[in-house]
Amino acid sequence: MRSVIDILDLSVQELDDMIATALDIIDHPAKYAHACEGKKLATLFFEPSTRTRLSFTAAMYELGGYVLGFSEAASSSASKGESVADTAKIVSCYADIIAMRHPREGAALVAARNASIPVINGGDGGHCHPTQTLADLLTIRRELGRLDHLTIGLCGDLKYGRTVHSLINAMCRYKGTKFVLISPEELRLPEYMEKDVLKAKGVPYTSTADLDGAIPDLDILYMTRIQRERFDDPDQYERLKDSYVLTSEKLKAAKERMAVLHPLPRVNEISVAVDDDPRAAYFRQALNGKYMRMALILKLLDEAKKPAPPAKAEEYTDRFRCRNPKCITCVEQELSQQFRLTGEGKYRCVYCETAAEE
Ligand code: CP
Repeated sequence: MRSVIDILDLSVQELDDMIATALDIIDHPAKYAHACEGKKLATLFFEPSTRTRLSFTAAMYELGGYVLGFSEAASSSASKGESVADTAKIVSCYADIIAMRHPREGAALVAARNASIPVINGGDGGHCHPTQTLADLLTIRRELGRLDHLTIGLCGDLKYGRTVHSLINAMCRYKGTKFVLISPEELRLPEYMEKDVLKAKGVPYTSTADLDGAIPDLDILYMTRIQRERFDDPDQYERLKDSYVLTSEKLKAAKERMAVLHPLPRVNEISVAVDDDPRAAYFRQALNGKYMRMALILKLLDEAKKPAPPAKAEEYTDRFRCRNPKCITCVEQELSQQFRLTGEGKYRCVYCETAAEE
């Protein structure tokens, strides 16, 4: 059964096709109004959400389908200790497709391995958020007219910001992409993203803590919130929370056609005055998320009708224990440890991608 857990589960051709579908939905909504008649989307949100959950809900309604689910772990049997695997098996009896958010890294993969219907990852801890990336890609395409030869500044919490990790994985597959990584030292991109993705693929990038110095070169400025809920040390959050605030004054140095993106919610990293700047694309980005989620639901439900292609044989070892306290394997003890050898010659947990320690 085809699921989307990571943006890398979708090829560039598939991303481009989904963008084309989303653009067609925007132009011809009536054509799609009954496309999912009789189908049910289950939204399993173990962690808070406004945009992801509600845009999935709106997407399914606009395709003529139904929606069931929960919006917090406390109102599901997870609060009584039910595992993600069992939840996925049960919901497969009631729905045709699942959209799920969970605070544990790797939880969506566990769900996909146990469900008999497609699972879409709506965010797993600080790990991945592929449908936000779909929203980002359509936004870049609509704002700048292309997805290649762009200089993209990623600013703020690059360590815990799962949207940043998914966006890097998507954009480094387009020709001519350059990244400028703008963050305080403590919130730099995780080492596996820098080594396994940027260095391994030879994608040009620079790292800086200086937003003002970086702005003039950018085609896209992707602002992010400092992710308070992912910090183990509240004092560190207090110290870092105001690291970057984008203001109208700072934007004077930017290109006339630069687009400002933000996955939202915003706390104070973009001043409200910036909202009136034509380059502020973040509210349009949230709307684009609904169209891309419509395109994804259509694609996965269509593929679910066809015989599944043979699963690729993957080799794992269980000779390590994942040392990431945020990994799903740390709380769901019945899950076996699985590590796979990556391109840089390191073993990484299949759930959260943390490197094994020999
Ligand atoms: N961008 C995003 O994921 O927003 P929510 O947390 O509101 O879903």
